[in-house]
Amino acid sequence: MPPLGQPLIRFDSIPSTQEWARGWAELGAAEGLTIHARSQTQGHGRQQRIWWSPPGGGLYLSLLLRPAIPLAQASHITMLAALAAIDTCTALAAVQPRPKWPNDVLLNGRKLAGILSEQSLQGDHLRYVIVGIGLNVNTDFRHTDLADIATSLRSVSGRSYDIERLRHSFLDALNHRYQQWQSGISPYHAWRRQLEPVGRMVSVQRPGQPELIGKAIDATPEGALQVRDAHGHTHTIWSGDVVVQKHPPHP
Ligand code: BTN
Repeated sequence: MPPLGQPLIRFDSIPSTQEWARGWAELGAAEGLTIHARSQTQGHGRQQRIWWSPPGGGLYLSLLLRPAIPLAQASHITMLAALAAIDTCTALAAVQPRPKWPNDVLLNGRKLAGILSEQSLQGDHLRYVIVGIGLNVNTDFRHTDLADIATSLRSVSGRSYDIERLRHSFLDALNHRYQQWQSGISPYHAWRRQLEPVGRMVSVQRPGQPELIGKAIDATPEGALQVRDAHGHTHTIWSGDVVVQKHPPHP
């Protein structure tokens, strides 16, 4: 099995690394194929939200995976990518980001990285997964609409980083964690240990459903968030957006 990151195809600018990786996956490319772009013109995240991808601003990467796993474990791929991003930032920038449910990495409460894991299924069989990561490295968000919610390694440490070096480090970390996972070691415990927003009051927005307010009490090994509402009912949330309540209502 070739390591993740091989072959590596690099672009100066493309619409989205995610679509390129999917195109190759559909043509039968093997696990490990990685598409890296210096900038993206249509970078996107979950629910087609724009992922700002200026040249040299961040690591914009998509990998093709073909793991032989039950569908219930597919969320582990997002956990692995989040942990590898954290490993990289800790090693290169001496910072300690945290994973945030469902697919983010936070630093000082702001979004440092986002992970987009897209599956192709045949029945309940996983054909492949494209895992994309956008990691904010040198981007300056100060005078943008994202100033309050996004951050970058440079914003926190005051210095710039070489994106190629960061990619090496990320792929090394991901290979290491992916091999461990393939040998039966779940990423869940490492991901869950520091998981935001466990322990906090949150509001959860789910497409087509009413807002849920409650306390995030845990996450399951399959990656669902558990939220206990004011009536003591525990809700298991598989997808949605979570906002931490700064001023929780009185009980
Ligand atoms: C999210 O926060 O919802 C996930 C963001 C994922 C962005 C990355 S950048 C590389 C790859 N290409 C894309 O268009 N999206 C992912």
